[in-house]
Amino acid sequence: MKITNHKQKHILVLGGAGYIGSACVDALCNMNAKVTVVDNLSHGEKKYVHPKAIFIKTDLLGRKAINKIMAEETYDSVLHFAAHKDTGSSMKNATKYAENLRGMINILDAMVANKIPQIIFSSSATVYGTPVYSPMDEKHPIKPINFYGYTKLAGEQLIDWYSKIHNFNYVSLRYFNAAGDYGLKYIDKYSKNLFPAIVKVLTGKSAYLEIYGNNYKTRDGTCIRDYIHISDLVSGHLAALNYKPSDIFNLGTSHGQTVKEVIAEFEKQIGRALPKKIVAPRPGDSMSLVADCTYAHHKLGWQAIYDLPKIVSSTLKTII
Ligand SMILES: NC(=O)c1ccc[n+]([C@@H]2O[C@H](COP(=O)([O-])OP(=O)(O)OC[C@H]3O[C@@H](n4cnc5c(N)ncnc54)[C@H](O)[C@@H]3O)[C@@H](O)[C@H]2O)c1
Repeated sequence: MKITNHKQKHILVLGGAGYIGSACVDALCNMNAKVTVVDNLSHGEKKYVHPKAIFIKTDLLGRKAINKIMAEETYDSVLHFAAHKDTGSSMKNATKYAENLRGMINILDAMVANKIPQIIFSSSATVYGTPVYSPMDEKHPIKPINFYGYTKLAGEQLIDWYSKIHNFNYVSLRYFNAAGDYGLKYIDKYSKNLFPAIVKVLTGKSAYLEIYGNNYKTRDGTCIRDYIHISDLVSGHLAALNYKPSDIFNLGTSHGQTVKEVIAEFEKQIGRALPKKIVAPRPGDSMSLVADCTYAHHKLGWQAIYDLPKIVSSTLKTII
């Protein structure tokens, strides 16, 4: 994979104190790019932001504030990570999740007003909904089955319309399930995803692991996800920053693991069984989400290199 030097650039990272954003900030700072992070710290923590990055605590819902930030400096690109991200909660609180779109409109208006030429958007595999075929390429039908996924789809569409009308470039990256540690020992206290849930059990913060349903039509009845290491997501962003036409790419490994298979890999590496219980399936959970990443490989020269054992071992390092 071609790693390009981003050192001449000034990049505005929205949500750069969070799990994926802080890893991208770390990579960019280590490449000597100038980086400004905006985060309201609702989920992220300042301690994860690289000390060389400029940090501004601001909420993207503040339209004037975000415009002022973009007006005060010249930015080459915006990386937009900031969002509410829990599928289950999105099915209980539409007003809260609609903030993902309010923030997006504020960002796009400020970008246009200040002539920022590029945005890289953290979209999600949830835009696909239930697979019609698997693995799913970018041409797979789009039909989100939870409101979070809808906000990602609407975000992609807003960016596309704004870019056509106002002539800037974008790359929307549909991440599959981010996992593992970038070396920052990031503990995601809020995520209800499988890896953070296992970490909570391993660190004694949860008594047992909840497995949401075991009657799916999969090889062992539990949901299948494509777990991508955070370092692979970072390299996807670095590649996207150099990509000129506007486009949408899947970022995954092209391999799916069931919930039980992930748990088994943890148990193998720690040498003991994890306490676990089967509970009811969550509304809005797709049975299976696995990426076909041929397009990203072809256009961005990108591909994931971490497999499940490496993702699990890097996760275990966060708690040692
Ligand atoms: N983690 C995954 O597996 C995954 C998968 C697909 C897509 N995504 C998307 O990737 C992005 C980053 O995910 P993450 O796991 O790093 O999430 P995260 O919650 O760790 O990071 C998001 C950051 O944005 C900040 N933020 C949220 N709302 C804000 C607002 N209104 N104003 C300013 N800051 C705000 C939070 O404080 C947090 O630091 C999200 O958009 C998420 O939807 C994540």
